[in-house]
Amino acid sequence: MQISLKAPTSPSRQKSAALVVLLTSDDLKKPSGDDALNELINRIHKRGDFEGKASQTFLLPLCDTLSAERLLLVGLGEAKLLDEKVFDKATTAMFKAIRQYKLGDAAILLNQSTLSEESQIRRLACGAETSNYQYTASLSKKPDPKLKKLVLLASANSANRKAMAQGQSIGRGINVARELGNLPGNYCTPTFLAKEAKALGRKSDKLKVSVLDEKKMRELGMGSFLSVTAGTDEPAKMIVMEYHGGKKSDKPRVLVGKGITFDSGGISIKPGAKMDEMKFDMCGAASVMGTMTAVTELELPINVVGIIAAAENLPSGRATKPGDVVTSMSGQTIEVLNTDAEGRLVLCDALTYAERFKPATVIDIATLTGACVVALGKHATGLYSNSDDFARQLIDAGERSGDRAWQMPLWDEYQNQLDSNFADIANIGGPEAGSVTAACFLARFTKNMTWAHLDIAGTAWLSAPKGATGRPVGLLMQYLLDCAN
Ligand code: BES
Ligand code: MN
Ligand code: ZN
Repeated sequence: MQISLKAPTSPSRQKSAALVVLLTSDDLKKPSGDDALNELINRIHKRGDFEGKASQTFLLPLCDTLSAERLLLVGLGEAKLLDEKVFDKATTAMFKAIRQYKLGDAAILLNQSTLSEESQIRRLACGAETSNYQYTASLSKKPDPKLKKLVLLASANSANRKAMAQGQSIGRGINVARELGNLPGNYCTPTFLAKEAKALGRKSDKLKVSVLDEKKMRELGMGSFLSVTAGTDEPAKMIVMEYHGGKKSDKPRVLVGKGITFDSGGISIKPGAKMDEMKFDMCGAASVMGTMTAVTELELPINVVGIIAAAENLPSGRATKPGDVVTSMSGQTIEVLNTDAEGRLVLCDALTYAERFKPATVIDIATLTGACVVALGKHATGLYSNSDDFARQLIDAGERSGDRAWQMPLWDEYQNQLDSNFADIANIGGPEAGSVTAACFLARFTKNMTWAHLDIAGTAWLSAPKGATGRPVGLLMQYLLDCAN
């Protein structure tokens, strides 16, 4: 989409399919457009058609005193209650109206309130991209018309231009994550993910992409990862994306994504209901791809490594069985008590592999446990870390991006739930605190690094309407932008 900035000198003379005005209820007493626009808003307000309530929208066609074909008023509620959350919700309603009326272009007059221009621009540019996303890859139906052009009525100074570029790239990164998540398991295989990563690598000299095949993984001793792919005919891939935007000596931030392109549970097979949703079990990987896309587009001045552990988890005569013991790359042996706890088995080897990059920080992102959905629902991502400082940074990044996470305990007291008589560690910790014990498992492989684990089982997709959310690309991008500053 084409998004541009233009000084808001005479909004009533702005040509477009719709002039959009973002107004708090307090603004209605004294709108800050030009005379023709203010007069129109006053008349609408006096009639009682629009009060500026949060997320209220009002469309007026055929207004002769404007150069735009329509006026769209969007309410932001009371000025004293206006914050980023209210703003995001209201602009979501705004984009919905834009889509509903099939507007090909629009011009938006920002709100003259406490929310900075930059923040409004970043959020609008991001929202414009994400509101335009539509899944069509496996549908014969033609896509609905899109919003093609957006003019933000604000000065084109360098801070505003930067905010616009950031918002737009983050929005596109979110869409990349949604699209990969939504693709069916027979389209989006480990091989497909590897091809997508390679294609991204060709777009920038700063991004180097390599793919480890099963032979290479065997040489590296990734017995845990390989135990997950034993039952399927789809070859597993470990995808490594190295982005060099900083100094050579700058330690990279490493992102590790769970990329189970379909999780049947393996021999510990899942029940049939909702099993289709296990195509979303690669949403951690998808968020890494989306984030790497945005980082590359924005040419951030830092180093970032994205690692994707991609495999399919199926039962067969060659599949790993409950009770089998496998040896991880770290040397620790693992008793596979449940083949459905496969995410941690691919991640532990990917995390051990991550050590060779001498990371400043490592974050793994995974649709890891149903227990996390029970604990936190679909609103908060579960956050675990071996550093409380690092946890706080990520929680803060989540708050500011509207992509929130909630810290969960990673206490030693939970560790003995993973004791095994036949291996160094078991891959499940029993019915209690399932999301915590999964994180405790990963903690055994990340002792030498500043590490956080994001359990996105509840936040990565919605069941009604069914679709991937693109989370937590927003949180990750906010964190990386913070690192770049
Ligand atoms: N991918 C699932 C977790 C999941 C389940 C995410 C439902 C979202 C919705 C994961 O691989 C899994 O199957 N975990 C098991 C772990 C258990 C066997 C210890 C689970 O959560 O039931
Ligand atoms: Mn599973
Ligand atoms: Zn899984």
